[in-house]
Amino acid sequence: MNIGRLYDQRIAQTYDHDERGLLAGARALGLEQLGKHVTADQTKAVLDLAVGTGESLMAIQKAYPNAVLHGIDLSEEMLRIANAKLNFFAVHDDVANSLQHFSRESMNLILMHFLTTFVDGEDIVARTAKLLRTKGYYSIVSSTFQAFPRIYSLARMVLPDQFIRDKNRAPENADAIVSFCTKAGLDVIAVDHFTKEVTFANFDDFYDFGMNSGFFTHVLCHLDDSQLASLSGMEGIFPLTDHYRACAVLACLPE
Ligand SMILES: C[S@@+](CC[C@H](N)C(=O)[O-])C[C@H]1O[C@@H](n2cnc3c(N)ncnc32)[C@H](O)[C@@H]1O
Repeated sequence: MNIGRLYDQRIAQTYDHDERGLLAGARALGLEQLGKHVTADQTKAVLDLAVGTGESLMAIQKAYPNAVLHGIDLSEEMLRIANAKLNFFAVHDDVANSLQHFSRESMNLILMHFLTTFVDGEDIVARTAKLLRTKGYYSIVSSTFQAFPRIYSLARMVLPDQFIRDKNRAPENADAIVSFCTKAGLDVIAVDHFTKEVTFANFDDFYDFGMNSGFFTHVLCHLDDSQLASLSGMEGIFPLTDHYRACAVLACLPE
């Protein structure tokens, strides 16, 4: 599956709606950590890995008005929306190629917000930590595999567990994200958890949310009509209340 194309064609136009406030809520936790630990005078160059529609970078511009902003993303459409909101150096490429576009030890702050579901987090953090200057910061905000336990247990009634694991590569929990950082030689400074209850009135409500927000698009787009019919035909399920879970981790490159 081409994630960039999926965002271009299916998610970009609705991504910022965030009606249930899940993206904004978890993102705010990461930005709060930055507010506590990262000062404006030490923040001259920022790179947003998977900048998306630029929501995190806009908050960074406000908090660190003198910083030069950079963003990389696989989706042209997400980048186009971000570029309409703010000025930054935009690169259309895979984050795995970040070292081809940015110099080593050039960034004071790197953001990786809601990317871990799509990449090998350990590998990407290890590669991109090389872009940090000494005492630079790395901010990760990520859904975890603990998000939406009820939805996934229902899905397991009609889909093989391995299929779900393959399509949803979210890190198991905050400890997994902490280990990405420590293996990359970063010191972890703060770990915070975000939990929010969500209710879906019926299957269509869940499907629209899942596809339009990007939270389940990468799983749902692999289902054929009969698998979707099995899910939508389950009785006594809706209205369904579940929990979204994410975490924010702030790390620093020591001297
Ligand atoms: C859930 S959005 C997160 C966007 C933004 N960081 C935010 O906080 O809202 C995921 C973004 O990751 C991008 N993406 C996924 N895999 C990528 C990769 N390997 N390299 C670059 N961008 C990628 C998608 O195109 C999409 O814009």
